[in-house]
Parts: sequence; C-alpha cells; structure tokens
Amino acid sequence: MPATNVATVRTPSKRTVLMCRPEFFTVVYRINPWMDPQLPTDTSLAVRQWETLYQTYVDLGFEVHLIDPIEGLPDMVYAANGGFVLDNIAYGASFTYPERQPEGPAYMDWFRENGFDVKVPENINEGEGDFLLVGDVILAGTGFRSASNSHQELAELYGRQVITLELVNPSFYHLDTAIAVLDPQPGYENPNIAYLPSAFNEEGLAVLRERFPDAILVNEEDAAVLGLNSFGDGYNMVIASRATDFERQLRERGYNPIGVDLSELLLGGGGVKCCTLELRK
Ligand code: ARG
Repeated sequence: MPATNVATVRTPSKRTVLMCRPEFFTVVYRINPWMDPQLPTDTSLAVRQWETLYQTYVDLGFEVHLIDPIEGLPDMVYAANGGFVLDNIAYGASFTYPERQPEGPAYMDWFRENGFDVKVPENINEGEGDFLLVGDVILAGTGFRSASNSHQELAELYGRQVITLELVNPSFYHLDTAIAVLDPQPGYENPNIAYLPSAFNEEGLAVLRERFPDAILVNEEDAAVLGLNSFGDGYNMVIASRATDFERQLRERGYNPIGVDLSELLLGGGGVKCCTLELRK
C-alpha cells in the first residue's frame, strides 16, 4: 500500500471565521454558469441549510463571527469573497461584476470595526474565493475573477510567496471551487490539498503536481456538487454531503469528513467554503 494511503493521526486546530446569514439570498442575475434567474430559490431553506453549516462550525469549537446581511446584495452570503485576512491585515475585495461591488466596502467596514488593519485594494480581486493560504505560500487564482495584478499586490502586502494558477473552466471560476486546503494550520509541514485537475491549464497542473505530489485528486462528479468547496481544521473537513468519493478519499487519509447539504446555495454557485471567510489574527 502506498504510504499516502496509510491513515495518519490528524490534529485539528480551532479556526476563526466570518459568515453572513443568507437572509436576502436569491438568484436575480447570472455571473457564473451555476446561476439561473429563471429557477426559483427558497430563501428560508437557504437560511436553514446555512444554519446547519453554522452549527457544525460551532460544534467543532470554531469562533464564528457574523456580518449583517444587506438587502439587495444576495451574494453576500458567500463571505469568502469579502476579503483575505492574514497577520491581522485584511486585504479588501474589489469585485469583478457591478452586482457585487458594494460588498467590498461593506466587508472592509466590518474588518475595521473588528480591529483589523484594512488595505483598500488597488486591483480586482475576490478575496479568499481566489486566494488560499497553504503553509507559508498563497495559491492565487485568476482567469475569471481576480486579476493577476492583485497577486502582486498580495505578495507585497504580506511578504509571502504568491503562486498564480490560471483557471480554465467557467464552472470552477474561483480557486476555492477547484482546490480544497486540507491542512490549514499555520506553519504546518507539508500541508496537503485536494484539487480538480481539469480546472487548470498545463502550466498550473505542473506546479500543483510538483508541490503537492500526494494531493487528493477529486473526480468530476464530486467537483460538480462543489465538493472541493470545503473547509476544515486539519482533521475535520466540512464538505458537500453529495461528494461521496471525496469523502471516501478523505477518510482513507485520516481526515474526518462531515457532510452538509447546501443545495440552495449551490444555485448561486457556492458551497461550504464560499460561505466561510477565515480570520487569521
Ligand atoms: N454568486 C457568487 C458569484 O458568482 C458565488 C460566489 C461563490 N464564492 C466562492 N468563494 N466561490 O460571485
């Protein structure tokens, strides 16, 4: 049996996150292929499903902060896009589409009020949707949303290596729909990821293969329910309950997958991770 299949003892570490209750969730515009304004949405179901995710985090001992939802900003529930927070510095978001642009300042206000140093962005970027901290480096997506000049801004701001990855499939338009960080603990040696190979070009794939030779490769079916859009603490991994092969692979590697159903939020093109912005002080 290859060493990577041996279940390892995994140590969880408490996460601190920001979420936004989807009180005004609906789909009235289309800025990604998952969204269809013709299809009905059920806001109260979205809230109930979101509350299950919220409760799952609370039960895991996470510190969960909440930002007030704003009427007319239906995508505000996808808190991951509200910024990127590391070393107590919040790099604000500057959204690609006008429909979401007011969310940028709303999240920056929250960061300021809660003691973070806010950096108003100079370039288009959608926060943790496209920026993933893995160990000491930041993986940064581009191609659909965040502009590559935001990657330079990020590198200068945090003094860390930023690795640009180009996304090529419009259904996986944010990096957090194509990559899951399995070991989020700061300073963790050899942190691992899971990813969908077909979401990247050859250049990006070469980088991922070289850096993460033991990565979990997720299949198209699991990716199609946004299975990769998941969030964990190094042991527990909250994932889409329908991503059954990803669940199996996580278990095999010694993680504890916890499935939640966010079918309603999938209508907006988001899942577990999209609803979660990590706050790193
Ligand atoms: N409707 C939102 C958009 O297209 C979904 C955002 C999903 N968020 C994420 N982190 N992938 O912008």
